[in-house]
This record gives sequence, structure tokens and C-alpha cells, in this order.
Amino acid sequence: MAERKKVTLPKLFKKAADGQPITWLTCYDYPTAYLQEQAGIDMILVGDSLGMTMLGYETTLPVTMEDMIRHSQAVRRGAPNVFLVGDMPYMSYQPSVETAIRCAGRFMAEAACDAIKLEGGAEMADRVRGIVNSGIPTIGHLGLTPQSLSALGGFRVQGKGAHQAKKIIDDAKALEHAGAFMILLEMVPDRLCKIIKERAENCLIMSLGSGPDAHGQLLIYHDMFGLYPRFKPRMAKVFGNAGEVILNGLQGYVNEVSDKSFPQPENWFGMPDEEYDELLTLLD
Ligand code: KIV
Repeated sequence: MAERKKVTLPKLFKKAADGQPITWLTCYDYPTAYLQEQAGIDMILVGDSLGMTMLGYETTLPVTMEDMIRHSQAVRRGAPNVFLVGDMPYMSYQPSVETAIRCAGRFMAEAACDAIKLEGGAEMADRVRGIVNSGIPTIGHLGLTPQSLSALGGFRVQGKGAHQAKKIIDDAKALEHAGAFMILLEMVPDRLCKIIKERAENCLIMSLGSGPDAHGQLLIYHDMFGLYPRFKPRMAKVFGNAGEVILNGLQGYVNEVSDKSFPQPENWFGMPDEEYDELLTLLD
């Protein structure tokens, strides 16, 4: 595929204004980023979900800034033209506005990200304002926010009750007023997502399991290709079972090495007879 033009913030807004859904996926490594760029994905999130999908932790909480920067750099190398979002890990923004600005800046300076994302509503508005005022495009994340899993009581839909839904609507407004250009709604009811989108003035609303009435959709790459062994969330459609393909391949490798049908001559390198004969004369 010919190299495409860089996806920019104005292009995302234009796409939304034209009524075309924005495509967004998580990604954590160079080869997958390369494929996502070739497929024409608009945005990539280097999510702190990498703690679970790539590093095998049970939650996202142990993920560090160093983990995030290392993976974001690899993704940027594979997808130079995608709109790249770095996800602020646990305790990289909660302690203070200054901590938030410094950590957000690292994503931009060290990994060439285009924006950052952080979790939380009105209580994080001052962090969002500080980061935005430093010139860094910022995305809010509401609904199921995995860094607050313990407080939320597990992976469950948020905003099913009217009062909780009203709080999410108010939080979205607070983030928008603080300068967030985009808000991700994770696992909230479709009708709540629709209300928030209709009320958004200058802010794009994205859905992860929150229905079709958003400006675009996000999925976790590992869920859509059967690559996460612990569970598959209901919202994740499986677009291809790469996990099964890889497992079959691995079993084939084990079998062929075991029965000596691998390797074959095309899988190794030879040496000219005369060189080999001379080599033998050189040995004791
Ligand atoms: O870390 C991540 O991938 C995320 C998604 C769950 C939205 O934040």
C-alpha cells in the first residue's frame, strides 16, 4: 500500500463532521502497528491494558511510565502516520497537575505521540486543563475505568441507573470544558452514549462497548483476534482467530521437530565440497 498521509486532529474532526466513524484500536508492538497502519486504522491507543495483554498482570495497575514509553516508541516506528495516543498509567497523573503534565510530556517528547488519554471525570478536570494548556491534546475516559476497578466492583457496565448516568453526563461536560478534544466511553449503555454525543459541542465521543451512536469505535486488539487467554469481553467481536492459527502452527513445529521432518534442506545452509574438504585438512 502507498504510504498514507498523516492522520491529524483536524482530519479526525472532519471525518466526524462528514458522518464517517473513526476507527481506533489498541496496539503495543512494532509488527502489529505496521499491519494496523497498512489496514488504514485512524487511531492507535497504546493502552495500559498492555499490562494484562502483553505482560500478563491481572490488572493494569503495575504498569509503569517506562513500560508505556517503550511500547509507544515501538508502535510509532511501525505506524508513522497513525494518530497515536499514549495512555497515562496508574499514578502518572493522579498525584498532582504537575506530575500529570510531566508524564504527558514524556509521551510526546520520547514516543512522538499525538495525544494522551487519562481516566476519570470532574475530579481529573484540573489535570486535563493543565495538560491541554501545555499544548498536549487530551482524551478523557469515562464509564468502566480499569484503574479504578476495585472501587467500581469489577468489570461491569457503568451508568445503568439514572443517577449514575447523570454523573457520567456531568463528568463528560467537565472534561470537555477542561479542554479534552475526545472522550472515550467504555461499557456504558448505548442510550447514555447517544445523549453524551448529542450534548458534546467541540468534543468527539468514542465508544468501547457503548453502542453505535458515537463518533467512532475502539476495540482491544487482543480481544478481536482471540489473543487474550483469560477472558473475552462480550463487547469484543472476534474478527479472526489468530490465537488458534498460532497455536496450530506451534503444535506443528513441536510435531515436526519431534518426528525430524523439520528442518529440510531448504531450511539450512550448505558449504562447497572443496571448502569442506580443506576444512577437514585443517582439523587435528
Ligand atoms: O488500556 C486500554 O487499552 C484502555 C482501554 C480499555 C480503553 O484504556
